[in-house]
Amino acid sequence: MTNPVRLGVFGNPVAHSVSPTIHSLFAELRDERILYDRMLATPAYFPKAVAQFFRNGGSGANVTLPFKEQAAQLANILTERAQVAGAVNTLMKVGSGFVVGDNTDGEGLVKDLNSKGFSVSGRSLVLLGAGGSARGVLPALLSLNPAKVYLVNRTLEKAQVLKRLLVDLSAHGAENIQVVSNADSINEPIDAVVNATSSSLHNIDIPLPGSFADNAWGYDLMYSETSTHFLKQLEKAGVKKRADGLGMLIEQAASSYQLWMGGERPDTTFVMSKLRPRTY
Ligand code: ATR
Repeated sequence: MTNPVRLGVFGNPVAHSVSPTIHSLFAELRDERILYDRMLATPAYFPKAVAQFFRNGGSGANVTLPFKEQAAQLANILTERAQVAGAVNTLMKVGSGFVVGDNTDGEGLVKDLNSKGFSVSGRSLVLLGAGGSARGVLPALLSLNPAKVYLVNRTLEKAQVLKRLLVDLSAHGAENIQVVSNADSINEPIDAVVNATSSSLHNIDIPLPGSFADNAWGYDLMYSETSTHFLKQLEKAGVKKRADGLGMLIEQAASSYQLWMGGERPDTTFVMSKLRPRTY
């Protein structure tokens, strides 16, 4: 029998990551052998930990908070979407030891939105937040051709910098981004809102758009056992179609798995049903 393919996830904290469960289920479905570990690091130790992992036979790794930007600095080569995102969630060893950094977060979000029937094309979209998470998903959202994109951030300058960066990189649709500091100043009914702030992590309210279209949907990149704080806010605001980020997590994992293991993209339906992603 061949040795299992060595994979894992770097993060801090990482103890509660569900990535090992997701990847083990993919491997089971495809009848492949993997060993997927949780790898705790500190920012100072992260570069050494990554080098050691690949030196000791690691084939690929996911990278989660707070290391995504650092991982983009470490990789020998970045894919185009990782360059645009400025962040890496997937590392893979190629050939004699080059480490490629990719970012499958945006693709994961888009796949999950599609499977839930949450459409973006021709809609007015609000993205809340301008940090690393927002940067990871904004190019993918723009590629879906929304009619309008409001990029909302408490610290306006950060949103302005993000827009300028995407314009400079000629990211599709970047010129159409409207930068705002407070969502409740938007004067039109909104079709779609994506939360890329850490509001749910801290269980705090953030300003929402003043009004929503009848069939509006909302998505929180965060996920939790019960409804996230942001999704509760949306429920109170009358937004009926809501989902947390567990579906995105599973979809980004499927994209990473395919990069490492080749072949077809793993079927996510079974994993979704196992982990009970919620659409509130
Ligand atoms: P991440 O990598 O997860 O995006 P981050 O870079 O620290 O983390 O960004 C967190 C995001 O949540 C930022 O957009 C932040 O807004 P600021 O840039 O103004 O700090 C946003 N955020 C955090 N707490 C917030 C709050 N109480 N109200 C509004 N936005 C908040």
